[in-house]
Amino acid sequence: MATTGATGADAFSAAPFDPDPDRAVLAVIGLGYVGLPLAAAFARPGRQVIGYDLDDRRVRRIADGVDDTGEVSAADLAEALAGGLEPTADPDRLGAADIVLVCVPTPITVDRRPDLGPLLRACETLGPRLRPGQVVVFESTVYPGVTEDVCGPALERASGLVCGRDFLLGYSPERINPGDRVHRVETIVKVVAGQTPALGAALGRLYGTLNGGAIHLAPSIRVAEAAKAIENAQRDVNIAFINEIALICERIGLSVHDVLAAARTKWNFLDFRPGLVGGHCIGVDPYYLSHLSQMVGHEPEVILSGRRLNDRMADEIADRIAFRFREVAPDVARPRAVVLGATFKEDVPDLRNSRSPQLAARLARHGFAVTLHDPVARPGQDVAVAASGEVQRDGCAGEWGLPTEGGLDLVVLAVGHRAFVEAGDDRILGLLAPTGLLADPKGLWRRLAPRLKGRYWSL
Ligand SMILES: NC(=O)c1ccc[n+]([C@@H]2O[C@H](COP(=O)([O-])OP(=O)(O)OC[C@H]3O[C@@H](n4cnc5c(N)ncnc54)[C@H](O)[C@@H]3O)[C@@H](O)[C@H]2O)c1
Repeated sequence: MATTGATGADAFSAAPFDPDPDRAVLAVIGLGYVGLPLAAAFARPGRQVIGYDLDDRRVRRIADGVDDTGEVSAADLAEALAGGLEPTADPDRLGAADIVLVCVPTPITVDRRPDLGPLLRACETLGPRLRPGQVVVFESTVYPGVTEDVCGPALERASGLVCGRDFLLGYSPERINPGDRVHRVETIVKVVAGQTPALGAALGRLYGTLNGGAIHLAPSIRVAEAAKAIENAQRDVNIAFINEIALICERIGLSVHDVLAAARTKWNFLDFRPGLVGGHCIGVDPYYLSHLSQMVGHEPEVILSGRRLNDRMADEIADRIAFRFREVAPDVARPRAVVLGATFKEDVPDLRNSRSPQLAARLARHGFAVTLHDPVARPGQDVAVAASGEVQRDGCAGEWGLPTEGGLDLVVLAVGHRAFVEAGDDRILGLLAPTGLLADPKGLWRRLAPRLKGRYWSL
């Protein structure tokens, strides 16, 4: 595959291009889970950061000091706004930046192919505002080649400039993990690559100002793109393996949690846990890699088989729970169930690509009247729940804790929000009818199993 503007890049690198990490004006396109923490980290007195998002409401909330994703604290956001962060929905502000960091979504289509639409639209917006000497760094997760073969030409078309001669490309994958308070922009090693060695080094200095210089300078943009793509695909495949083991153990009456506790005492055992794989990273990024693999003529067996299993894990869990329920309560005609947790991950408000609604919908098909309860989910998001239409949402208005109703035939702990995991034993048990089943796929409430005498199910 050809690299856009390879010859021009040499010409550009000969020019005196060396953005001063302390002075360069930055712009961030896309102020979501990735873009806002990045923009806020860079913004400080003396460093101007133009934060552009096409979502006017999101921009206004940020300008008011509120990050609805919960990733940037009110104090940090206030500090960033008082420093150099300028949230804006005006794309013309992008022209004022020396370096533009693109952090827009990279979802998949309904047929599980990369949807490069948001990236292309960002390039179309930026292109007419590009000026010679600017640098465009992509942070969105892509497959190798997208930055140079797709985004570079899109920027050229929209700007009339020549990539590598008039403007340069960089790539630095974002590795933050929603809800993770340890692995933050300031603590994660940053992989950085530039279209020229000089640009790579300059970007390394720039990002190094955030994390004490913890930079891995990749030899090319493609290498940096590939590194990110395989990080998430590896995690997906490993979880799929443990999910498969969990399904086998369940059928032979073993707790996978007991098996894992024993196995992880071996020094080189990889410690993954079974569960639902949702969200817009691990459940999506492997399809970028598999798409590339198919484009270059290799059928990706491991990557796609892991995806297949993880995609159907919610159905598998619902089927096992329904089977067990019929064993313990065969006579309940229209059992009432609550699925606890609707978001894709514990203690994050994001419902996108969550597998919990899939689990709830499958239970509804087994005849349960299901309510999906989530005190953490951000209100106003669309939950694509059930084709059956029998699943209702409840508790998404921001209250904290367990449902108030009791007498339930089935309670499923689908997402381990802290409020659920740490709830008092009597409060949890009080949710259940005398014949009710507690389903706890991740084994987070195993301490309750002895008190439930057979009315507890886990993987
Ligand atoms: N969320 C994560 O934890 C995470 C971690 C690592 C990498 N990533 C990757 O980072 C990228 C961004 O993910 P995210 O989770 O921040 O997405 P997000 O959906 O939270 O935020 C994206 C933001 O971009 C805005 N946007 C979309 N198109 C735009 C455009 N053309 N111009 C301006 N703004 C636009 C949206 O309004 C939204 O506010 C994706 O490629 C993702 O795979 C995400």
